[in-house]
Amino acid sequence: MIRAAITGVASYVPKRVITNFDLEKMVDTNDEWIVSRTGIKERRVAAEGEASSDMSVSAVTKLLAETGTKAEEIDAIIVATVTPDMLFPSTAALIQEKIGAVNAWGYDLSGACSGFLFALKSGSSLIQTGSKKVIVVGVDTMSSILDYTDRNTCILFGDGGGAVLLEPTEDENFGMIDDILRIDGSGADALHMKAGGSRKPATHATVDAREHYIYQDGRSVFKRASNDMANVSAEILEKNNLKAEDVGIFIPHQANKRIIDVAARKAGFKDEQVLLNIDKYGNTTAGTLPLGLDEVVRNGRIKDGDLVLFAAFGAGYTWGSILLRYGPSKKG
Ligand code: COA
Repeated sequence: MIRAAITGVASYVPKRVITNFDLEKMVDTNDEWIVSRTGIKERRVAAEGEASSDMSVSAVTKLLAETGTKAEEIDAIIVATVTPDMLFPSTAALIQEKIGAVNAWGYDLSGACSGFLFALKSGSSLIQTGSKKVIVVGVDTMSSILDYTDRNTCILFGDGGGAVLLEPTEDENFGMIDDILRIDGSGADALHMKAGGSRKPATHATVDAREHYIYQDGRSVFKRASNDMANVSAEILEKNNLKAEDVGIFIPHQANKRIIDVAARKAGFKDEQVLLNIDKYGNTTAGTLPLGLDEVVRNGRIKDGDLVLFAAFGAGYTWGSILLRYGPSKKG
């Protein structure tokens, strides 16, 4: 059986840091509240004019160099993002052009905080149907849709992302094993952007009403995220007859440390098995999972063949988990 294997990962975050103390000067909030309610201490913010395709190109260029992959070898580019450079053309097309992937096709995928999982599943399906090299990107420039006068949302998010290279393997010690993925549109009211789409195109009035920013009912999202991310993480382990101790690393979406703690506890993970970098980056939406994977691969917390469990929850609602064995990593 052919499986998609992750043979490399790279990530990118912008240089500019906004700390909780910086936010104290912008809205009525404080470091103690933000740290105790979310676990976030600082987040990265894109430079003026720096968009999702730019951050992606930084990550993908590094990925290609480190895995010894030529841009013309890439069959497809899938980009999970809710902050594309433009509504069209796709961010995938912009990345394709900038890196010179002359033989690739590709597309953007809107799955919010679960976007990287959905893109990984899509990329895996392409590998199983004959593609040889697929780039999967999770990236978001959340600062472009954040209202820095709204303390309910502006403290939560940051910019960044990462990319993985998928290649086929027949070796059972590597690659995608299982996934549980879900959407539930009844969550649309709780987390969305009101204007700028076909329902409510941009006008002076929509801009004046600040409707091109994230709207979130934090408490409703918190309840569903805690519940669904915890359940899906436990469910995929049970479905595969695995115990928490079999897993090398649990990489949960980084939206709120309290949500992560609930999921980790329910699935039975010890602290050292859980990737936590929300303190440094906040919620980078589709970016959190590849950022997390890159961190654990680079600092040696996992090695080739280790079991990785991803879990996420986001706008839609969307949620899910993916279980895989990392590697075999390619060195260029
Ligand atoms: N600084 C200080 N006080 C704040 C604040 C801020 N940045 N934001 C809200 N508050 C206040 C509220 O106004 C409220 O005051 P009140 O009791 O006088 O009304 C109080 O703090 C508690 O607010 P509440 O919304 O109940 O806090 P919370 O514990 O639910 O935490 C979130 C708020 C947003 C951190 C939390 O709901 C959350 O993380 N939700 C999910 C977010 C998420 O994951 N979204 C991405 C998609 S997965």
